[in-house]
Amino acid sequence: MTNAGILGIGYAVPDGVLTNHDLERMVDTSDEWITTRTGIKERRIANGETTSDLAVLAAKKAIAHARIAPQDSDMVIVATITPDMAFPATACLVQDRLGCTRAGAFDLSAGCSGFVYALDVATHMVRSGPYRHVLVIGADTLSAITDFSDRSTCVLFGDGAGAAVVGQTEGRGVLATYLGADGGQGMSLYLPRERAEAASHKDGFIQMAGSDVFKFAVRIMGDAALEVLRRAAVAPEDVDLFVPHQANIRIIDAAAKRLGLDGRKIFVNVHKYGNTSAASIPIALAEAYEQGRLNKGDIVTLVGFGAGLTWGAAALEWEVPKA
Ligand code: ACO
Repeated sequence: MTNAGILGIGYAVPDGVLTNHDLERMVDTSDEWITTRTGIKERRIANGETTSDLAVLAAKKAIAHARIAPQDSDMVIVATITPDMAFPATACLVQDRLGCTRAGAFDLSAGCSGFVYALDVATHMVRSGPYRHVLVIGADTLSAITDFSDRSTCVLFGDGAGAAVVGQTEGRGVLATYLGADGGQGMSLYLPRERAEAASHKDGFIQMAGSDVFKFAVRIMGDAALEVLRRAAVAPEDVDLFVPHQANIRIIDAAAKRLGLDGRKIFVNVHKYGNTSAASIPIALAEAYEQGRLNKGDIVTLVGFGAGLTWGAAALEWEVPKA
């Protein structure tokens, strides 16, 4: 069977920085509360950029990094919960702007697990044969659906995009994936479909039962990581880099503890970007690569959770020579 893996990666975030001190002037909160409860110090907020704008910037870098031409892409998948429009799919806007003229395009909605879901789909497309290169993008502008007068949510989120080119590899590439959902907990984190239909101002923005999501996340991040490593036949101690969804440092620490991982093997950038939803894992992976934290042959574990409630984990052997 053909092996599939990541051939190139890139990310993009808006220039606009919103710090905890800025938020202190907007809602009844403090840098101390946000830092100790979440690990976040600042986040990037779009100033007119849409999800597709950030997705295009990230994807251009991933395409260049993979040394392919846009026309070599056979499919564009955008994982997002903040599409530019209800339709067409954001992936179609991105496909056009990148010049991926031979590619199909579709969006995928799995909240913050979206990138791992899309990576799983892309891996199977490449392994099955006719698709040589699949562009996988996680992109969200949660600031567009965040109520900046609600301190329980507005301190958590940021905007961004991350992208990867998935294609045939000589190495082992993606070793295993594990996706899941518990739709019964869907109302812990939701947004009404149309803001215009929202019953009240508050209903037009992200609604979240924070402590329910927190408990779910702490359990599922560890469970999902252990299950994907079991499927990949990799012992936790053999993981070289753990790249978790960057939602909250306490959730990341709890997952790392379940795996018994040394702190040096955990990639964290939640302090800089907050929770960027589907963009979180690919931004973290791309930054880890940029910082020289990934060597060819390293075993990498990705794990995320999000709206749905969903979870997704992947174990892979890193293919790309060191940055
Ligand atoms: N500043 C100051 N106080 C605050 C703030 C704030 N920004 N937000 C809440 N508080 C208060 C609460 O009102 C509460 O006060 P009370 O005790 O007087 O009622 C107190 O702080 C404690 O609130 P908790 O909700 O118990 O705080 P907790 O320790 O659970 O932390 C948090 C809250 C950070 C939201 C946590 O529950 C969490 O991280 N949950 C998961 C959120 C998440 O990861 N969502 C993922 C989204 S994924 C996607 O698909 C988009």
